[in-house]
Amino acid sequence: MKPGNTPLVELRNLAPAGTRLFAKLEWFNPTGSIKDRAAWYMFRNAVEDGKLKPGQPLIEATSGNTGIGLARLALIHRHPMAICLPSTATEERRRLLRAYGAELIVVEGGPNDAIAHARSLVESGQGHMLYQYGNRWNVYAHFLGTSREILRDWPLDEPPTHLLAAYGTGGTITGNSRGLKMTWKDLRVHSVEPFVDDPIGGMRSQDDPFQPPIADLSLVTDRHEVHKGVAELAVADAMKEEGLFVGTSSGAILHAAVETLSGEGGTAVVLLPDDGWKYLSGAPWSEL
Ligand SMILES: Cc1ncc(COP(=O)(O)O)c(C=O)c1O
Repeated sequence: MKPGNTPLVELRNLAPAGTRLFAKLEWFNPTGSIKDRAAWYMFRNAVEDGKLKPGQPLIEATSGNTGIGLARLALIHRHPMAICLPSTATEERRRLLRAYGAELIVVEGGPNDAIAHARSLVESGQGHMLYQYGNRWNVYAHFLGTSREILRDWPLDEPPTHLLAAYGTGGTITGNSRGLKMTWKDLRVHSVEPFVDDPIGGMRSQDDPFQPPIADLSLVTDRHEVHKGVAELAVADAMKEEGLFVGTSSGAILHAAVETLSGEGGTAVVLLPDDGWKYLSGAPWSEL
């Protein structure tokens, strides 16, 4: 099953008066997140290029979603899969990865520590890393896939004024802004990020000392830093207003979108990376 062709829906209750808000629901992908796209393109091209040999072990550093997408492909195509996971990753993510047959290597610290550990395993010959932070197919997945789907499914005669997406590896924002700006030249591109000292799973701050080599933020016109607690409030709002069960990074994006539309008006399209199942043990659901 190839990822993609996720629904683009209008969020009429969340959109401030006089504005329009459209969301691409990326949890309608095979393992429930936007990262199925990058996983599929990176895996397929490593096989086609002969970089990944039949049965060769795969190693990847990931906060969860890329690992879940890759673990599924590794399982289907019979590659052992080891995931280096930051110790901050939620229990739901760990269980899901195990469910998909991956071996978990929990690395004390954050995503950068997981990357360093995965690199050391590859250097000692223990497997092949697709390396989502430096793999151009992570960007092409969105340039060739997501952005074309948005152009194809866009329901209005007028283009949107704003695109908002999370910044993590940079695959989503780089591939989509390149793809969409070819047709929608005036599109403002908003990067949604956590504060560097208040992380949100899957997302990265431009102030982080490690900036992924595939990320090209030259097309980004606006930057929003969102506190995790604010993103969690927006998760609750998405449920209350739209009946949408979104993950924390989607909450951050929706918060930034509503703020942008309230201040400037216009039409926004947002890419919502995953839904809420992997976050049920945390806020806002832990109180239920
Ligand atoms: C939940 C979540 N949100 C956002 C992102 C960021 O997407 P990208 O890596 O394409 O920048 C990720 C990436 O792993 C993610 O897992």
